[in-house]
Amino acid sequence: MSNRAFQSCINADCAAEFPIDRVLVACPNCHGLLDVDYDWSGIRPSWETFEGRAVTKGQRNAAGGGRSTPASLDFSGVWRFRDLLPFCPDESRIVTIGEGRTNLQRATGLASKLGFTSDAGGELYLQYEGFNPSGSFKDNGMAAAFTHAAMVGAKRVACASTGNTSAALAVYGALTGVECFVFIGEGKIAYGKLSQALEYGATTLQVAGDFDACLARIRHIAEHMPEAGVYLMNSVNPFRLEGQKTIMYRILEGLDWKVPDWVIVPGGNLGNCSAFGKAFMELKALGMIDRLPRLAVIQAEGSRTLDRVYNDLGVRWSPALGAGGRACAACPKPIACPRLCLRGRFDVAAVEAEYARMDAANERAHTVATAIEINRPVNLSKALRALHAMNGVVRTVSDAEIVEHKALVGRYGFGCEPASGASVAGAAMLLKEGVIRSHETVACVLTGHVLKDPDVTVGYHTGLNMKAAAVDLSASRPTGRVSNPPVRVADDLEAILAAMEGATAQRALRE
Ligand code: F0G
Repeated sequence: MSNRAFQSCINADCAAEFPIDRVLVACPNCHGLLDVDYDWSGIRPSWETFEGRAVTKGQRNAAGGGRSTPASLDFSGVWRFRDLLPFCPDESRIVTIGEGRTNLQRATGLASKLGFTSDAGGELYLQYEGFNPSGSFKDNGMAAAFTHAAMVGAKRVACASTGNTSAALAVYGALTGVECFVFIGEGKIAYGKLSQALEYGATTLQVAGDFDACLARIRHIAEHMPEAGVYLMNSVNPFRLEGQKTIMYRILEGLDWKVPDWVIVPGGNLGNCSAFGKAFMELKALGMIDRLPRLAVIQAEGSRTLDRVYNDLGVRWSPALGAGGRACAACPKPIACPRLCLRGRFDVAAVEAEYARMDAANERAHTVATAIEINRPVNLSKALRALHAMNGVVRTVSDAEIVEHKALVGRYGFGCEPASGASVAGAAMLLKEGVIRSHETVACVLTGHVLKDPDVTVGYHTGLNMKAAAVDLSASRPTGRVSNPPVRVADDLEAILAAMEGATAQRALRE
């Protein structure tokens, strides 16, 4: 693998670059988002390279320590494509637990239910990311981010989560021996997922606040308190997104490397759509595809920040341009960048004004699809970039549409959790609008497993309100030999830091 990887600020007016092994949350100069970027010269991956990695027999001993073997990397649906995310100079140090062996399934029954007419030649595919080891697409990103964490020697990792991120973080942490902290909002986590975080031994802090509040806290600690030594695992971490690019490679693989007309994905923190845009821009620049699919990002009515910013306010990404346009600050001359330039600009003031309005109105995210119940999407600028590159659209669907389409996925396929239902509801909406045409090939990404939110599913099928009232999860004293109860903590920096130190001290005593 190449060691010509670096981190680069996507803000064209800053264009700062940093070494690959520096731990950063955002650009220290302008606070813009960072990309993992590569000098691709001399790297010419081809689809045949990946097809040649189909033989996966042999030891796979990376999970839980040891060095990863070529068989373990080829078994992984992320690292099978390692030439397209070549940031780790030593392949044997790559972390994998066998993630990304997910399926692109043609959904003929569902397609006709939604109104795709088969004689027009259109196809609907479902990309089941719930088949990952922890039950969601997050494992793709965790494999990459834990690899980076190992490269920089991180000992403590953390995330804010409504469920899936915490489960993924906890299983990678348990298997690699890294201490994990999960921040969950009070009453704001899917119990199926909480059970995983507890079982895998992560320290779970139940913070009196919502997801946005939890993320703000842990981000502050990771970014501004180096003495706490916390490595952040939310999708603002650009290494996460490198792993999530591979979801698109697997869709292409399932289509014989043909580009679909549409990729449809739910949008919460907007990490996936950002990763997908980067994946396709790179593939085009490498000459591996000749066109990009269109992108549809689907949000829930109760948390539609991107929809407002993109459709109501008309905010758009403008890529760094040379010759007549405004080039990136890194270009020595006002010509287009000789490298694949992923930098650009957008109307930051318009977005900030919208955030100020939301604050003044005390608007909080609210949807049955807890995975996308997010008001301050950290990857907004990268999502705008992806929408630009992929001629994208953004739509909002109601909670009722989400649960109906989730149920249809279950009736006609393997099932999914609520946010994934938004993908399919969005496909139906765009088909009705005539934006998607019935001869087109559409790939809907189902981001999580049907078992994530069983209360929503049972509620739908029985008409009962199964949602457990917000309970204090640390109110009782468990007696199991390895019980791992959550710790309840105020939304207060000092209290959170004290709880983290307490957990680390207890862990040291146990070991
Ligand atoms: N779908 C599922 C199943 C998710 O768990 C998430 C995020 C998303 C979609 C949103 O994806 O950020 O890439 O737009 N879940 C986070 C969590 C919030 O904590 O597990 P995005």
